[in-house]
Amino acid sequence: MSRTRVCFRCQLCGAESPKWLGRCQECGEWGSVIEEHSPSSNGSGSGRAEAVQAAIPMLEVSSEGEEPMPSGVGELDRVLGGGLVPGSVTLLGGEPGIGKSTLVLQALAGLVAERPGERAMVVTAEESRQQVRARAERLGVLSADLWLLAETSLASIATQIRQVRPAVVAVDSVQTIHDPAFESAPGTVSQVRECTHRLVQLAKQEGVAVILVGHVTKEGSLAGPRTLEHLVDTVLSFEGDRHHALRMLRAVKHRFGPTSELGLFEMTGSGLRDLSDPSALFLADRRQGTSGSAVAAVLEGARPLLVEVQALTGRDRTQMPRRAATGVDPARLAMLLGVLDRRADVSLASVDVYASVAGGVRLAEPGGDLALCLALVSAHRNVSLPPDSVAVGEVGLGGEIRQAAQTPRRLAEAARLGFTEAIVPESTPDVSGIRLRRVTTLTQAIRQVLGP
Ligand code: TYD
Ligand code: MG
Repeated sequence: MSRTRVCFRCQLCGAESPKWLGRCQECGEWGSVIEEHSPSSNGSGSGRAEAVQAAIPMLEVSSEGEEPMPSGVGELDRVLGGGLVPGSVTLLGGEPGIGKSTLVLQALAGLVAERPGERAMVVTAEESRQQVRARAERLGVLSADLWLLAETSLASIATQIRQVRPAVVAVDSVQTIHDPAFESAPGTVSQVRECTHRLVQLAKQEGVAVILVGHVTKEGSLAGPRTLEHLVDTVLSFEGDRHHALRMLRAVKHRFGPTSELGLFEMTGSGLRDLSDPSALFLADRRQGTSGSAVAAVLEGARPLLVEVQALTGRDRTQMPRRAATGVDPARLAMLLGVLDRRADVSLASVDVYASVAGGVRLAEPGGDLALCLALVSAHRNVSLPPDSVAVGEVGLGGEIRQAAQTPRRLAEAARLGFTEAIVPESTPDVSGIRLRRVTTLTQAIRQVLGP
């Protein structure tokens, strides 16, 4: 019997307070603190005495961990470093409608297809069985080894996992399941955290790999359970712009490998497809010889990507000029406009400026600065950049061009895609297959590629 006590908890950050507050003192969110019931014992589910383990010399611990099970979905396996590890718990977060249920179904189907005789189970706590079956049919992945449970009660889910003994279970979503023994309402931070904790224990006991689907709000918080991240082994974030087919999968936390890999998918009419050559796709519709267009070689995690950066400038305006950015951080754009003005004598202060990255990609790292600046100047002067050229480099406040991380890898990718010339910082070492134009300042870069 677990006794409970009343507490007040922020549904965004999970901070607890002894009394009700209109605004969370931790994260500053308004109206997010609600009443919950927590177990009176500290640490959830720890009422039972745990088996005592003796300390042993580290050398006596076997170095072999569990072998990951490939899901057959190439880009997912890339991010996971091979596949799902038995007994591990993976949290898959993303905005509603991004494709989490689709990814999970494809992964489970792929896993059983690669492992004859083993089962995978989908626990649907949101959709009906018919809906899930219809999706599986649409994806063409129906299989006798795919099991389905429409259930929201944690106890029933645990019982079914013990009976069906699947190699992998996906719970879609963790926010809609609940433990009736636990008094907080479904979806509250306490309830979701408690359920996750139980599922982590179950995964370890049964050696089953568990995937938890979690909805993330627009602001990027995992609808409360940010606090889940330390309970699970792996946190994956599934991102993308709903108006584009591109989807990106990143590991935010991963106990079994690096978090630097990026998975890229294309959402098609028949599910998610691995995008193994994304740069070629991003550049496919590019029109060479147009002003305001530059190609940046950016790094997404460990993966070099070539993307087209576009800029457009308007006519002189007397009132406040507009600045609009898609896929570019507005603050970064403002900073680069400032550097162009003060250090390179290119003033765009009185004209409208639009900047965009094609294909739904975000320019999230400073290695794309130089390409963006060149696109802006190219648009302003209505002169196009040399064909088949890329730019890599961070632009400093002094107008200097700085080295970006792993420039040679980016240049090798550019060379592979047929680019013949690269505008790079002075210190860049030679890379075979591509001619380098080394520059120290923004002014020099502009003069070299766009003329005086
Ligand atoms: P879904 O996996 O249900 O998203 P989530 O679980 O993250 O809420 O998929 C959402 C969208 O994907 C839906 O609007 C339809 C689209 N979709 C496709 O374009 N092709 C497909 O094959 C499938 C299954 C879905
Ligand atoms: Mg879903």
